[in-house]
Amino acid sequence: MNEHVTLPAAPAAPAALGADDAAIRSNSRKVFIKTYGCQMNVYDSTRMGDALAGDGYVTTEDMGEADLILLNTCHIREKAADKVYSALGRLRDMKKARAAEGRELMIGVAGCVAQAEGEEILRRSPAVDVVIGPQTYHRLPQALKTARAGTRVVDTEYAVEDKFEHLPATSKAQIRSRGVTAFLTVQEGCDKFCTFCVVPYTRGSEVSRPVSQIIDEAKRLVDAGVREVTLLGQNVNAWAGEGPDGRNWSLGDLLYTLADIPGLARLRYTTSHPRDMDDKLIDAHRNLRSLMPYLHLPVQAGSDRILKAMNRRHTGAEYLRLIERIRAARPDIAMSGDFIVGFPGETDRDFEDTLKIVEEVNYASAFSFKYSTRPGTPGADLTDQVPEEVKTERLERLQTLLLKQQADFATSCVGKTIDLLLEKPGRMPGQVIGRSPWLQSVNVDAKTSQIGEIIRVRIIGTGPNSLFAEPAESLMGS
Ligand code: 5AD
Ligand code: SF4
Repeated sequence: MNEHVTLPAAPAAPAALGADDAAIRSNSRKVFIKTYGCQMNVYDSTRMGDALAGDGYVTTEDMGEADLILLNTCHIREKAADKVYSALGRLRDMKKARAAEGRELMIGVAGCVAQAEGEEILRRSPAVDVVIGPQTYHRLPQALKTARAGTRVVDTEYAVEDKFEHLPATSKAQIRSRGVTAFLTVQEGCDKFCTFCVVPYTRGSEVSRPVSQIIDEAKRLVDAGVREVTLLGQNVNAWAGEGPDGRNWSLGDLLYTLADIPGLARLRYTTSHPRDMDDKLIDAHRNLRSLMPYLHLPVQAGSDRILKAMNRRHTGAEYLRLIERIRAARPDIAMSGDFIVGFPGETDRDFEDTLKIVEEVNYASAFSFKYSTRPGTPGADLTDQVPEEVKTERLERLQTLLLKQQADFATSCVGKTIDLLLEKPGRMPGQVIGRSPWLQSVNVDAKTSQIGEIIRVRIIGTGPNSLFAEPAESLMGS
């Protein structure tokens, strides 16, 4: 899971509606939210749903019945923005057809493309009513009101107020409808300025949410039945805050505190930068049972020359040493990473170093991309671009290796007895899909009433994207 994944619209309507709920639904305006990109956008979509719920909107999965269509966009690579513009072209036709029927359709663009393109979206896409940035979406109801009164709105300021202070809390029913795992943003923005990356420009500099806000939100999630929380941040392990003890806390301290919340069975965090893996965090992996043994720790490239040009501020050897320390603390940890091939100036020899580092680490999962020039980043000024066909060939070689490692990891799980968090109904009746400690989807025979329980299962086989398991009856429990 990463910035390249297109995820479904986030907030799902509750499966079963009471009479009152049904009445609310039929009288309310409806919003369809399409989420592109990373987990943080998934989280933001749920919070935009909360902001709109406070304004009388209910979320719908059916674009056809929506009065408001909101695209929560991603700007990390070129094609992402192109996708948004072509989606907006299709929505313009839909809006015209609606207007002919005398029905309203409002269109909003949120997220990183909104932040980066701003006014340009209004110029290129006349159907858009509202453009709202990742730091201002608590003002979405106000922006919609202005747009409805006839003035299209661009609101992409870095707001002085904290959006989290202004958003209505997610209701218990909404949390329930979203399942037993949840994201919780603890940090936003990035000060690392890797030379290929737009994030420091679209999401701004690093900001950490305060400890009390995070703990309150985590407790609310758990109260509503969430068992697994993934802490999110563009640079999550740069999170810092003042603890209730008056000390400066790092992410490790925060994890220790969250692990004490009764009922919060599992913790994860993503995405991390190698430079910010401090001792406290590594210790947390050693000591906290609820901190899952899975770590997404991108390295991007293996050659020190390219790492330097990327401004990653560490060498390949330093990355490998760090992983050794993490594995010494938590031997069963599964590693995940991100890679870029074809950064300007990357030679065959540099690329061989990327393959070497992959061989050394042995990843359980990974994401790899061709370098894509992002206007405004230092990388965009480099002249030594790698030809497209070379990028394609390198990506194929890298992905073949990574996919083999991923398959080998899945195979190595067969025969193991593990804890499985039952998450959602499976494709076949009588089957439930659960999540392994290593973030794999696992199919098992179980009752849907057991969703939310953690059961012991034995892995008995592998499929293309998931594992198969049988209950290890004698050890069953929650
Ligand atoms: N080109 C290709 N991949 C990129 N990523 C970030 N910026 C670019 C870019 N300009 C990748 C990195 C990052 C992941 C989220 O997306 O690997 O870790
Ligand atoms: Fe982008 Fe680098 Fe910051 Fe990650 S650490 S968000 S790749 S600038």
